[in-house]
Amino acid sequence: MPASEEPLTGTDGPNDRRISRKTVLRAAAVLGTAPLLVGGGVALARDRVGTGEMPEFTPECHDGDAPTIEQTEGPYFKPNSPLRTSLITDSTPGTRLTVSGYVFGRACLPLANVLMDFWQADVNGTYDNVGFTFRGHQFTNAQGAFSLTTIVPGLYPGRTRHIHVKLQAPNRPVVTTQLYFPNEPRNSTDTIYDARLLMNVRQVGSAKEGTYDFVLNVAQTPTPTGTPTSTPTTPTPTQTAGGTWAVGTFYNAGDRVTYGGSSYRCLQGHTAIVGWEPPNVPALWQRL
Ligand SMILES: [Fe+2]
Repeated sequence: MPASEEPLTGTDGPNDRRISRKTVLRAAAVLGTAPLLVGGGVALARDRVGTGEMPEFTPECHDGDAPTIEQTEGPYFKPNSPLRTSLITDSTPGTRLTVSGYVFGRACLPLANVLMDFWQADVNGTYDNVGFTFRGHQFTNAQGAFSLTTIVPGLYPGRTRHIHVKLQAPNRPVVTTQLYFPNEPRNSTDTIYDARLLMNVRQVGSAKEGTYDFVLNVAQTPTPTGTPTSTPTTPTPTQTAGGTWAVGTFYNAGDRVTYGGSSYRCLQGHTAIVGWEPPNVPALWQRL
């Protein structure tokens, strides 16, 4: 029973929705104007919110943004989960679900090497408290991205549908929270549920794709070129010593640059940011 998943501050006010929209759009803001897939299929969290409304575009990204709220871990957390990004096998029953997104610090810069430990119920709403079924941890990559392959968790008494996660940036405290699904009837009666933790979820064939971007309370120094605005501007390119590749430059597919003595061809249009140097992002740059 979920008896110890005590309500914290369950709220669902208009401010929560505003923050949620802002949070889920942050990745798109970082990317500039071009929709993009990174790391072989990490979808950006810029889809419609599950209410069917198109989120307002609030691309400000600055120090002081609210970190992702914390929630109770509940009674079913177990330490020492396996290192893996998929919690399922081909024979696992349930609706396939990927959850992906980014982890940012307070200056909206991506955080690499953040430990993310996920756990959830199976299709019947049961937790594996003996083994490690539907438990696994992973680390965000150099771009702050994560991707979890799992199923839509089942319901159990007293709770709406949710996924548990703990996050820990290097040398920072553990942050425990939960992710929620839009359009769930029990969202309105679950006292732990908080709209600020709603994923964007879309149907893709028989599967679902959820996206969510986390913000951790980690101080960062913003880069002078990394803050897009709602009015498209042309950032001042910052030449790097390593070649022609430059932060703040928009590259079209097919463009060529040099970096660190090697040549690269752009695979997808994007605005270059710190952390997306050509050797780090094979989804964006092909080495020639
Ligand atoms: Fe739970």
